[in-house]
Amino acid sequence: MCYVTVATVDDIPPGTTKLVQVEGLPILIVNDRGQFYALQGLCGHQKLSLAKAMVWQGIIDCPWHHFQYDIRTGENVYPRCVYPLEALPHLHQQLERLRTYPVRIVEQHVQVKIEHEPLSNK
Ligand code: FES
Repeated sequence: MCYVTVATVDDIPPGTTKLVQVEGLPILIVNDRGQFYALQGLCGHQKLSLAKAMVWQGIIDCPWHHFQYDIRTGENVYPRCVYPLEALPHLHQQLERLRTYPVRIVEQHVQVKIEHEPLSNK
C-alpha cells in the first residue's frame, strides 16, 4: 500500500497525538518534539482506543489504565517493567508490542504507510 495522507503537521502539534482511520484501521499519530510516529490505535491491554493518549519523551500513555508504550518500537514499557510475567501469565498477551507504521512528511502533510495485516479484534 502507498503512503496515505492522514493530517497536516499543524493538526498535531508537538506533544500531542491524534487518532485517525486508514482503510478502517485505527492508527495513532504521535508528534513527540517535532518527530512523527504512527502506531496501532488500539491498546494491547483491553483493545480500547488510544485516542487522547498522552505523549512525553518517547512514551505514550493509554488514557484508560495507563499502560505505556515506546513510540519508536511499540514495546510495552509499563507495566512490563514492574510485574514479572512469570507471576502474572495472564498479562503476557496484554503486554504485546503495538504495531508501528512508517510515517513521512510531504509538504506539511503527515503520511502513513500501512504494511501489516489488518488488526484482529480478538
Ligand atoms: S486499555 Fe489501555 S491500559 Fe487498559
